[in-house]
Amino acid sequence: MKNLIDILDLSVQEIDEMIEVANDIIDHPEKYREACNYKTLATLFFEPSTRTRLSFEAAMLELGGRVLGFSEASSSSAAKGESVADTIAVCCGYSDIIAMRHPKEGAPLVASAKATVPIINAGDGGHNHPTQTLTDLLTIKREKGHFNDLTIGLCGDLKFGRTVHSLIAAMSRYSGIKFVLISPEELKVPSYVKNAYIKSKNIPYEQTIALENVIDKLDVLYMTRVQRERFFNEEDYLRLKDCYVLTPEKMAMAKKDLIVLHPLPRVNEISVAVDDDPRACYFRQARYGKFIRMALIMKLLEEANK
Ligand code: NCD
Repeated sequence: MKNLIDILDLSVQEIDEMIEVANDIIDHPEKYREACNYKTLATLFFEPSTRTRLSFEAAMLELGGRVLGFSEASSSSAAKGESVADTIAVCCGYSDIIAMRHPKEGAPLVASAKATVPIINAGDGGHNHPTQTLTDLLTIKREKGHFNDLTIGLCGDLKFGRTVHSLIAAMSRYSGIKFVLISPEELKVPSYVKNAYIKSKNIPYEQTIALENVIDKLDVLYMTRVQRERFFNEEDYLRLKDCYVLTPEKMAMAKKDLIVLHPLPRVNEISVAVDDDPRACYFRQARYGKFIRMALIMKLLEEANK
């Protein structure tokens, strides 16, 4: 059974093929309206979500499929003490494919060991978020045209930001990549991520706390929210929450063909005054998330039927 637990579960070629399908869906949505007739997607969300859950549901509905699920742990039997493994064993009987989000790192992997239908990791704690990365890759491809020779700045909460970890893993497979890691000391990229995907591959990188010192050399700027729910104390969060705010003044220092991505939700880290800048891609990026998830659902259902 093919699952998507980690972005590296997909080869570069598989990602290329899915991006092609997503682009074809954008151009010819009518071709795909019955692609998943009579198939059911379950969205099991033990943590809050807007874009990820709704784009999964919109994706399945636009493929002619059906959706069911829950959007908070408190409305599922997890609140009564049921284990993830038991919830999954049961939901496999009600659906053909499952997208799950969970606050515990590794929960979707545990689920996939039990499951009889494909499992998609829709975010596990501060660990990984592979479908956001697929969204990010589709956005980079559409906006930049390629993945090679890009200097990618990642800014904000690089420690708890799971989207950052998956994006670094994915981009480390292309050539000519440079990473610029912009964060306060307390929120640096975890060493396991740096070792596995940057250092071991000899990818050039620099670490800094000052966005304004490096913004001029970036091709992609990936902004992130400080992950309040993963902090151990509120005091640290309050001290760090506004460490970066992208403003029109900072954008004036950047390349003319920079693209600014953000997985959203945004709190304060991008001023709304930046939204009208043509280089601000984050709302387009959120929209692309539906199309790449359509491609993913079709792919995993196809593999499951082999
Ligand atoms: C992200 C997540 O859940 O990790 N959101 C998303 O899925 N688009 C980013 C975040 O919550 O900050």
